[in-house]
Amino acid sequence: MKVLAVGGGAREHAIVAALARSDAQVFACLKNSNPGIARLAVEHLLVDEMDVPKVVGFAKMKGVDVAVIGPEAPLEAGLADELDRAGIPTASPKKAAARIETSKSFMRDLLSKHMVKGSIRYAIVEDLKGMERAIDELGTEIVVKPTGLTGGKGVKVFGEHMLSRKDVMDYANEIFSKNIGGTPKVVLEERLVGEEFTVQAFCDGKRVVPMPAVQDHKRAFEGDTGPNTGGMGSYSQKDGLLPFLRRNEYDDAVGIMESVVKALRKEGCEYRGTMYGQFMLTKSGPRVIEFNARFGDPEAMNVLSLLSGDFSEICEGMASGKVPKKEAVFAAKASVCKYVVPEGYGVKSLAGEEIRVDEQAITDEGALLYYANVNEKGGKVYTTTSRSVGVVGVAGEIEEAERIAEKAIGHVSGRIHVRHDIAKKAMLEAKVARMERIRSGAA
Ligand code: AMP
Ligand code: GLY
Repeated sequence: MKVLAVGGGAREHAIVAALARSDAQVFACLKNSNPGIARLAVEHLLVDEMDVPKVVGFAKMKGVDVAVIGPEAPLEAGLADELDRAGIPTASPKKAAARIETSKSFMRDLLSKHMVKGSIRYAIVEDLKGMERAIDELGTEIVVKPTGLTGGKGVKVFGEHMLSRKDVMDYANEIFSKNIGGTPKVVLEERLVGEEFTVQAFCDGKRVVPMPAVQDHKRAFEGDTGPNTGGMGSYSQKDGLLPFLRRNEYDDAVGIMESVVKALRKEGCEYRGTMYGQFMLTKSGPRVIEFNARFGDPEAMNVLSLLSGDFSEICEGMASGKVPKKEAVFAAKASVCKYVVPEGYGVKSLAGEEIRVDEQAITDEGALLYYANVNEKGGKVYTTTSRSVGVVGVAGEIEEAERIAEKAIGHVSGRIHVRHDIAKKAMLEAKVARMERIRSGAA
């Protein structure tokens, strides 16, 4: 099977590796010279991933059977729609369905209209007068978000980034005046308290085939401090749950995703592709933080490293409306992913610096290596402003997987930053204890 893969990060390296394992011939479109993808693909085209006509032209010329799109921006630009128009089935949603990610106001309204479990109190506001009214109604214990895409960096939480009603108003004013997220519209949400987790699922318009739960770490520094990032690392547990997440809570999250797929179908925009649900596990169960219309990054590295089914068949199934359940088989193992990022990432990344990656040593540690947004030039690897390299340890228990990832990361050097605390025993125990306190009403 010939498959088009779009995107040049570690998520896409994991996608391409899973496709290659299933004997697909991969044709890649990416904007950066990712050595991992370049090596696995039959052919790759360095191209602006937003240049829809060029990407579609390449796919047509190569005669691909199915396409899969990694990042969200090309989805918003209608790449899946145009591939479909060119007769290429696509395992990623069209523009209208991708609104569950690209428009936070669309997502909240959809959940509310279809009375999806896990909905929260929110308001969509377009001016400062509306802000005053919404704060009067919701209180100040809120979260302020631009409605459009901001790469996960536009969210401000009361008590952390905003300490007074004035701070809330100031931020809303900034979103309106600077058009942050591309639309002068703000979503206010009640502030949820709990532990965050991710569930990703293969969707074919009707069915939802869930993958193991994963927990990402968005903050740049150890102890979950510092600025929000795209994600610094993530882990999963062998039973598909997480140390603080119970089976019935995971099932509730999957149920929410099933309701969203059904709601989108009713709205006339069938969802075909991987869906990403970000949940807050609260005292009263999982609540929706956001949906993404794609794999998560780093979460893709966790689940795709565990996938033993045929990924190209899964992609074909999602695209054609028949995702084969029997193929979505995940090894009953834990996974720990740690990201190497450039110094300064989250504030001002040190781009264009050479990093050294000892691939052989990483393999010898038993870890998997995924290149992210780097550029290879003359056999050397250089950073960009985004994340650089992901390493994944897979083992029976999280502790061992963490040990493998941690050893592997020692074989990457340069002016880099890593969060060593992710998935360490002390951190997991603290999360379990905190969730117990929240469940008992003590926190
Ligand atoms: P998002 O871009 O929507 O994923 O938000 C980024 C981060 O902000 C999330 O990972 C959460 O940590 C936090 N966040 C978003 N919405 C809420 C909410 N309603 N309550 C508490 N925290 C939130
Ligand atoms: N890990 C968060 C995201 O992919 O949006």
